[in-house]
Amino acid sequence: MAKAIRFHATGGPEVLRLEDVEVGAPGPGEARVRHAAIAVNFIDVYVRTGRYPAALPSGLGSDAVGVVEAVGPGVTEVEVGQRVGYLLGPQGAYADVRVMPAAVLIPLPDGIADTVAATLMMKGMTAQYLFRQVYPLKGGETILYHAAAGGVGLIACQWARALGVTMIGTVSSDEKAALARANGCTHTIVYTRENVAARVREITDGRGVPVVYDSVGRDTLQASLDSLAVRGTLVSNGTSSGPVVIDTMQLAAKGSLWVTRPAMVHYAAPRSHMLAMAEELFDLVRAGKIVSDPRQSFPLAEAAEAHRALEARATSGATVLLP
Ligand SMILES: NC(=O)c1ccc[n+]([C@@H]2O[C@H](COP(=O)([O-])OP(=O)(O)OC[C@H]3O[C@@H](n4cnc5c(N)ncnc54)[C@H](OP(=O)(O)O)[C@@H]3O)[C@@H](O)[C@H]2O)c1
Repeated sequence: MAKAIRFHATGGPEVLRLEDVEVGAPGPGEARVRHAAIAVNFIDVYVRTGRYPAALPSGLGSDAVGVVEAVGPGVTEVEVGQRVGYLLGPQGAYADVRVMPAAVLIPLPDGIADTVAATLMMKGMTAQYLFRQVYPLKGGETILYHAAAGGVGLIACQWARALGVTMIGTVSSDEKAALARANGCTHTIVYTRENVAARVREITDGRGVPVVYDSVGRDTLQASLDSLAVRGTLVSNGTSSGPVVIDTMQLAAKGSLWVTRPAMVHYAAPRSHMLAMAEELFDLVRAGKIVSDPRQSFPLAEAAEAHRALEARATSGATVLLP
């Protein structure tokens, strides 16, 4: 029997329960992975609360690392004994062992610890696709990034520094501001007491920024639009504070702005491209340009506590569950 966090109804963290589940042999194209570390992502909150629909009862989580302990017929992507991670595929990562489609498994290099790798799969790959694909940064730009001390945020700070990008990051507290700056964020705005758009105009000599990466959503939308330069791009890549509704006339009035709402699944495909994205990330980690240890860890059984902390903004950087 395996242990897995499951939920039978959507709702608050209390709906998460540790249950015994059967995990059989992998079928064709599948591999059974014994997890070493499981990543907690804000997306898991959307699934738990029903904002992203799941068929109930459901497992939770789409991001973990571990070792392949069995493969089904026809699997060519991974071998038994190999360390792997993943960020795509069906819900159910909050478990000590599970069966996964082999095509989404990413072989992990030696020298990157399991807990570090667990911060890289979804969060590091998100920084990769935001900065290198969705709105590709060349170096020399000044950008606005919300939740700069969050899980994706601390990796984004370091990636921006590696690219030679001036990053303006928003955070809720002075402690998070110091953490973001220590990770490479050039300017921080404590949004709980400062006017974000006014500070951005001040830092950019009135021009505004060419791109805002906004994972907070509802609460930051207006500040994001007001911070953009003419013909700037809003990358709306998350909705931690609630969904975003945009009046397109506002885009014209505020400077012929562009908006995109990207999803990883459309950028991390085909498999060869997903592996190339991971390789670029691993190279930065091996070169010491991205240092990414989890800042919080919880036993798998305490997944609800991890969600409470994440939703209460009590976390910084990445959070992992340990089976
Ligand atoms: N589109 C994609 O493919 C994709 C992929 C991965 C992640 N994402 C998105 O990227 C974001 C970051 O993900 P993550 O897992 O690394 O989470 P995270 O950034 O660590 O999320 C928690 C942080 O978000 C900030 N926050 C702002 N408003 C909040 C609110 N109303 N409630 C709770 N937190 C709030 C808080 O930082 P402060 O205390 O500084 O406010 C909090 O510490 C999420 O929105 C996620 O959905 C999108």
